[in-house]
Amino acid sequence: MNYTNIVNGPANASVIVQGCMRMTDLSKEDAANVIRTSFECGVNFFDHATCYGNGEAEKRFAQAFPLTGLKREDIYIQSKCGIMIDEHEFDWTKENIISSVDASLMRLNVEYLDTLLLHRPDLLFDPAEVAQAFDELEKSGKVRWFGVSNLVPMQLELLKKYVKQPLVINQVQFSLDQSQLIDQALYMNNKTTDFSLNRDGNVLDYCRINDITIQAWSPLQFGMFGGTFIDNPNFAGLNEVLEKFARREGVSKTAIAIAWILRHPAKIQPIIGSMNPAHIKDACDAVKVKLSHHDWYELYLASGKFLP
Ligand SMILES: NC(=O)c1ccc[n+]([C@@H]2O[C@H](COP(=O)([O-])OP(=O)(O)OC[C@H]3O[C@@H](n4cnc5c(N)ncnc54)[C@H](OP(=O)(O)O)[C@@H]3O)[C@@H](O)[C@H]2O)c1
Repeated sequence: MNYTNIVNGPANASVIVQGCMRMTDLSKEDAANVIRTSFECGVNFFDHATCYGNGEAEKRFAQAFPLTGLKREDIYIQSKCGIMIDEHEFDWTKENIISSVDASLMRLNVEYLDTLLLHRPDLLFDPAEVAQAFDELEKSGKVRWFGVSNLVPMQLELLKKYVKQPLVINQVQFSLDQSQLIDQALYMNNKTTDFSLNRDGNVLDYCRINDITIQAWSPLQFGMFGGTFIDNPNFAGLNEVLEKFARREGVSKTAIAIAWILRHPAKIQPIIGSMNPAHIKDACDAVKVKLSHHDWYELYLASGKFLP
């Protein structure tokens, strides 16, 4: 595994993060196996959210964690708040941010979160209220660092005007298939393709300029949770090129797809979501892969994009 210092945030964080969204349906023994496998592969950063299984993923993690023999301080625990599944709304009120963190701490059976991210923008959010919530959470020691997810640059600017703490992470969707984070820059000003649409206000460049680490969610998925493109016959061309590099590097196609994200100089942290120990090991092999500049483009083009 390789490690990175998140600017103004956690030091020595593994470059690959283990997502826990799909942990809900596992037994506590299987969940422990997932945590142990990830940790043995070098992963020390685990991603949660209040809405994963409506709290069940955090609970399962807490039930499983003692079986792993790990200590709380061996790992970074991140959770996210603001998506209210039952209420069908997003809620960044001070009251909800604070009560969500309390509920996450209770479910996870820990005293603090390393990082708290606001999950998706509440269209009614008041940045001054968010600032008050962050101050209280920092003062009480319940949260060490703060960040966001799925936020465009101007919303980050708005938050930054009020929030005292640095916003250290922005978690967004990014995979070989869902590469809109980078597409727009390539096709800028081109009327002939939808790839030119600016869907995120140039969030990648904004985050690089402002030292906000991008975390890539669903790094192996197509569409919005459409399934994985790995071994998917609908992505035959991409799988052919993944296979070619997998053979060359002596790893799996999964490793190459994750390595493609790691190859970007923005130091993006992919968040893998597999609950299968063999797939987790495959993904973590990505850190051994050496992709050249040309290899990276070949994979990008094999994913269905073209050079203007
Ligand atoms: N901020 C946000 O809005 C947001 C949104 C979504 C997700 N997330 C975070 O991102 C994490 C990852 O998302 P994700 O689960 O969609 O990521 P992913 O790693 O792209 O997808 C994992 C899924 O693909 C399956 N898969 C099938 N073949 C695979 C193979 N060969 N290798 C690996 N996986 C394979 C996995 O099944 P197996 O378990 O059988 O391997 C699992 O169901 C989540 O856990 C969550 O923490 C954040």
